[in-house]
Amino acid sequence: MWPSNRILDLFDIQHPIILSPMAGSGDHALAAAVSNAGGLGSLPCAGLSVEKIKQEVSLIRETTRNPINLNFFCHSYNEYTEKAERSWLEKFTPYLSELGIEPALGAAGSNKNPFSDEHCALVEELRPKVVSFHFGLPETTLLQRVKAAGCKVISSANTVEEALWLERAGCDAVIAQGTEAGGHRGMFLSKSVAEQAGTFALLPQVVDAVNIPVIAAGGVADGRAIAAAFALGASAVQIGTAYLFTDESLANDMYRSKLKGATDNNTVITNVFSGKPARGFATRLTRDLGPITDTPMDFPMGYGVLAQFKAKAEAEGSTEFSSYLAGQAAALGRRESASELTNRLINEAEEVFSKLSSG
Ligand SMILES: Cc1cc2nc3c(=O)[nH]c(=O)nc-3n(C[C@H](O)[C@H](O)[C@H](O)COP(=O)(O)O)c2cc1C
Repeated sequence: MWPSNRILDLFDIQHPIILSPMAGSGDHALAAAVSNAGGLGSLPCAGLSVEKIKQEVSLIRETTRNPINLNFFCHSYNEYTEKAERSWLEKFTPYLSELGIEPALGAAGSNKNPFSDEHCALVEELRPKVVSFHFGLPETTLLQRVKAAGCKVISSANTVEEALWLERAGCDAVIAQGTEAGGHRGMFLSKSVAEQAGTFALLPQVVDAVNIPVIAAGGVADGRAIAAAFALGASAVQIGTAYLFTDESLANDMYRSKLKGATDNNTVITNVFSGKPARGFATRLTRDLGPITDTPMDFPMGYGVLAQFKAKAEAEGSTEFSSYLAGQAAALGRRESASELTNRLINEAEEVFSKLSSG
């Protein structure tokens, strides 16, 4: 039924639906459900210890032997400086005093570490079918080891230039991430989010530029968008936001109530939460300090500074300082299980394809 088998053959999966890895929002249960339904389940490994990744993979393996994707970040960042933390913390002074919190240095930091030798050894041991990276690719020796372990390698591009770079560096497929996408932009050569294209414009240009298969990401939330992605030359789709609504997602009640209240225009691309541009629900913080500020604390260290008051605000019922990431098609989402969603997406896409072919 699918107009292209390139990704199906490459990843050895039944349906060209890839679950977006979503650090903090998805774990083994979500990944296993999607792989079990014939798509490609992704485990977001950024922020997990090597031990935890092993545990998660063995939990997936209890449910399914189908192919899976392990996802890692490969960002580079400047060393921590007290000056940078102080200046970032100063921006939060009014909120801290409102919440009755004494500002304190030393909170900057995050457990979201870039792909390392240790991660690489784990990949060599676990040998997942696919390894995906965000924020470019790791250094050549690590990348070569991942490929030598037999894993297919993919990464996100926000521009044609990035897609060509990833192809030259040895990626087996490229994810064209349009501006609609929830979460962080994978951008690693481009600097300006204002210049980035939407999925509808970016995808066919990437398809024309590269020879490797292209995976469409950003704003794909139902069968219509899947069919449109294939019409524009995609060989698969990567879907995140729609899966946030599922029973298996780790989204808490506050996150879910934000998702329920999603509209076409209440998300924004902002760097105030993490230091790197990401799409999430607009809040007081994004309105006051952003959405894009020239002087964020380097990703991912800003997370720790924010954590000082985010938890207290949430305990008081406020989500104004919380980074609830979601894409522009969030309003199309609905509560169901991840396997129900995967099957619905497949059936809806099939319906569109048969309508189109019957004229
Ligand atoms: C909550 C959330 C967290 C995300 N975290 C990651 C991540 O850890 N790694 C990654 O490669 N992409 C991450 N992304 C981006 C996705 O890979 C993908 O580009 C996006 O989900 C596609 O757009 P959509 O959300 O409109 O479906 C995340 C997206 C969301 C919504």
